[in-house]
Amino acid sequence: MGKDNLIIFDTTLRDGEQCPGASMNNLEKIEVARQLALLGVNVIEAGFPVASPGDFEAVSQIAREIRGVTIAGLARAVEKDIDSVAKAIEKADSPRIHVFLATSKTHRDYKLKKSKEEILDGAAKAVAYAKRFCDDIEFSPEDASRTEPEFLVEVVREVVRVGATTVNIPDTVGYALPVQFGELIGQVVDSVKGQNALISVHCHNDLGLAVANSLAAVKAGARQVECTINGIGERAGNAALEELVMAIRTREDFFNINVDHIKTKRLLSCSRIVSNLTGLVVQRNKAIVGKNAFSHESGVHQDGLLKKVDTYEIIKPTDVGWEKTDLVLGKHSGRHAFIQRIEELGFQLEEETVNLAFQEFKKLSDLKKEIYDDDIVSLIQEQFHEKGNVRYHLKNVKANVETGVRPEASVELSDGNGGSQEATASGDGPIDAICQAIDQITGIPCKLLDYSVLSKTVGTDAMGEVSVQIQNEERKVWGKSAGTNIVEASTQAYLNAVNKLVQYRPCAKGSNEP
Ligand code: KIV
Ligand code: ZN
Repeated sequence: MGKDNLIIFDTTLRDGEQCPGASMNNLEKIEVARQLALLGVNVIEAGFPVASPGDFEAVSQIAREIRGVTIAGLARAVEKDIDSVAKAIEKADSPRIHVFLATSKTHRDYKLKKSKEEILDGAAKAVAYAKRFCDDIEFSPEDASRTEPEFLVEVVREVVRVGATTVNIPDTVGYALPVQFGELIGQVVDSVKGQNALISVHCHNDLGLAVANSLAAVKAGARQVECTINGIGERAGNAALEELVMAIRTREDFFNINVDHIKTKRLLSCSRIVSNLTGLVVQRNKAIVGKNAFSHESGVHQDGLLKKVDTYEIIKPTDVGWEKTDLVLGKHSGRHAFIQRIEELGFQLEEETVNLAFQEFKKLSDLKKEIYDDDIVSLIQEQFHEKGNVRYHLKNVKANVETGVRPEASVELSDGNGGSQEATASGDGPIDAICQAIDQITGIPCKLLDYSVLSKTVGTDAMGEVSVQIQNEERKVWGKSAGTNIVEASTQAYLNAVNKLVQYRPCAKGSNEP
């Protein structure tokens, strides 16, 4: 018997983007969508169009521009949301409306204040309504893993009866355990056998089990998995796409499921691009895409590897994009080599963006002998931010550090209206002083919640990658920048976060968002 295909439904741009502070501008979202299409995912969940005009525009633009892949938009089980998704995805090659409604007792009794009958009816009505706009309808009973199994099966059968073609079983709060979840999925799969409906899963990682639960579900008959690049998402995140795909591919003997449509050699570049654009750093020991995923320290391991690679390696690093040829360009590299490398990295940029990125590349190559892929991704990321309605630009920063003297910094920013402002502040350290000077100029007092500098490449001239997380009132955002001068990169990272604060919508409170 031939192998079943596993549908890879990527929700980096919806659940992933819901992750606190991970907001991207529309240019960045389109770039991520293009990377996902190149990676070979089957479905891209592009966003939640009703949430804001910006979200609506991002989903519409992705639906218009990204071809050859299903584009889904999320809706609550209400007509207004479904109308908004239907409109946003109407130009897609293959549109999908994804409707959700919570089914568990806690959600019914406290969040929705609805009886089982009302939930059943609401779900069926919403699916039937969505079906007027397109054939491909997915329904998710939110908090399915904590729903009474008999009621869950009843809901699943009902939405399939009225036209849902995919039913997604979310482990919304990451409560499930692999054996139990596998049994539940087996029951759900059996309940719709012989009908035109596919069972999907969507697992959160609160207990670190999102990938394990998704794999148990696949073993039990689920044929779609919802996941995100680097596992980003609400709270502890979602199942990581790269881990799921590589587990199924590496243990084909066990799963007998096909994921050959995923171009695994693109996994690392996708991971880097999502990390760069969201500001969410990938932990070093992260499977598949973490810096240490294929480094072997112990002498015993190194000896084993030299004798036979598979003593300690179950995946070839090159299969997931770790090329030995990461070192690419230098001072003497020309425009042609630069363009070729950015194309190899999967970017498709407008000429103007290429020109600006090339100018920055030339400046960087004066400062730094060897330019790595990560350096190039950072240069391009800077261009996306520049074009994304950035309010404040750094004109100058000066920081004084002297033993025994309280650090002081002066910052000059241009404000996008042709004006510029300068402020000086002192702080516990130079970065603290810089942040305070910026706050004086913007009038937005921010608390620095997180600050890290990682060396992106090697050598004393390495680019330092700075990530910051800041908070203003209830809002938290990440900012990121990179450069050989880490004081300047820190200033840019902080400004990047401040620009996001002023640019993006405030979170819709109490709106029952997923
Ligand atoms: O976690 C969840 O339940 C969701 C649904 C909207 C699928 O994100
Ligand atoms: Zn979710």
